[in-house]
Amino acid sequence: MSEAVTTASESSQGNLGGREQWSSRLVFILAATGSAVGLGNIWKFPYITGENGGGAFVLVYLLCIAAIGIPIMMAEIMLGRRGRQDPVSTMKKLAQESGHSRSWGLLGWMGVIAGFLILSYYSVIAGWAMAYVPRMASGVFTGMDSAAVNNVFAELVSNPEVLITWHSLFLFMTMAVVARGVRGGLEKAVTYLMPMLFVLLLILIFYAIGTGHFEQGLQYLFTPDFSKITTEGILSAMGHAFFTLSLGMGAIMVYGSYLPPGTSIAKASIAVACMDTLVAIMAGMIIFPIVFANALEPSAGPGLIFKTLPLAFSHMDYGRFFGTLFFLLLVFAAWTSSISLIEPAITWAMKTFQITRIKAAVISGGLVWFAGLLTVFSFNLTSELTITSTISTQYGEFVILKDATAFDFLDYLTSNIMLPLGGLLIAVYAGWLMKKEYSREELNVNRFWYTIWSLLVRFVAPIMVVIVFLNAMGVVAFIRTMYGSFGF
Ligand code: PFF
Repeated sequence: MSEAVTTASESSQGNLGGREQWSSRLVFILAATGSAVGLGNIWKFPYITGENGGGAFVLVYLLCIAAIGIPIMMAEIMLGRRGRQDPVSTMKKLAQESGHSRSWGLLGWMGVIAGFLILSYYSVIAGWAMAYVPRMASGVFTGMDSAAVNNVFAELVSNPEVLITWHSLFLFMTMAVVARGVRGGLEKAVTYLMPMLFVLLLILIFYAIGTGHFEQGLQYLFTPDFSKITTEGILSAMGHAFFTLSLGMGAIMVYGSYLPPGTSIAKASIAVACMDTLVAIMAGMIIFPIVFANALEPSAGPGLIFKTLPLAFSHMDYGRFFGTLFFLLLVFAAWTSSISLIEPAITWAMKTFQITRIKAAVISGGLVWFAGLLTVFSFNLTSELTITSTISTQYGEFVILKDATAFDFLDYLTSNIMLPLGGLLIAVYAGWLMKKEYSREELNVNRFWYTIWSLLVRFVAPIMVVIVFLNAMGVVAFIRTMYGSFGF
């Protein structure tokens, strides 16, 4: 978000080697929260929680945020601040500084691709939210029952032209910001709109309490039933921890590259992770009571919020107003995230091909637009075109993907594989290869907290990521069978 940051740094306290900086830690926290809080919290978290049976999934997710997400976020910001360039150059530069191979640049490169692929479907889903704004405003949902609300959603996603129109509009908005820089508008707006989103979520929680199924919703979210969690569920909880915190692909690294020295990386990371988690949990506390009150299926998939929230708005006072505002704010939250998704690709392309920011934005916007068609068609024309991938061993069958459309595949590839892999490499680099004096200097925490961070980033996070990967591939089951019960 380099141009965007320029705005933030108009009043910057200084300029390191010509590189702009955030004016304060607060601005950094706001921008990083803007990247973290998005569709992942409000759209994705509830539906994947519903697909994976609730409480146990949420627990694994929270564990991943605390033990993997926060330490890796600190590592990623730290690498960014030390490298102060685009992710590819940063990794090359840092590797060289510590006497390691420049192939670490590949890590940045993987992030560029991941961001590109995520944006291709992110923009389509944000388009759904945009499509709901005029529907809400014109009172389409007023007095509707759940079957009618489901129909509105089904009609929307079955129409490729409409989806393409909204996808194009959202992508255009994203690229316009990326191409021109934010110049005050968006950054300032984050300051007001994020708290507004928060207030609206609070209002919806009151509505959820009034449904009479609030307790059931809470129980679903917070009572772990481990019989419901599968190996894929664990992988997707971990993948989502990376996705929701915008980790593992260089977005937070780019943000970190504008952070002035001396600001506490640890406090900032914890603040961002807490706010992000709070928003996701609030979304869950709203959606599930509505699901139960209307006898809906928690496992309704990607359409879950689009089938539940209109019901809430259609039954509450001023629902039309609040509903319109809510979907507008959701689009806004998605917008601040989408900018950070493409920023690593933009900075990389500008440098590699020596092109202007505008040109980089136009070219990458065009490519993302085409890639987005895969997602658009996944919900209509090519919805029957699915792949199932399993690994069968004599120790059991391991489902990697089941009836996955192109959208499911892209989501799986990026969230469950590329981001955790990127995060794993960041942890390994920061924990094992970077000189201790550098990380100590950057993090600037006392010995106790440094040791804790170091343990998490050297052992806990990488080992957990590797175990979850191996688990999903059936390797853990294999070892367990070989050595008797291992207790994983
Ligand atoms: N964290 C964003 C969300 O939860 O919606 C998505 C995202 C943004 C993922 C930026 C990765 C990223 F680099």
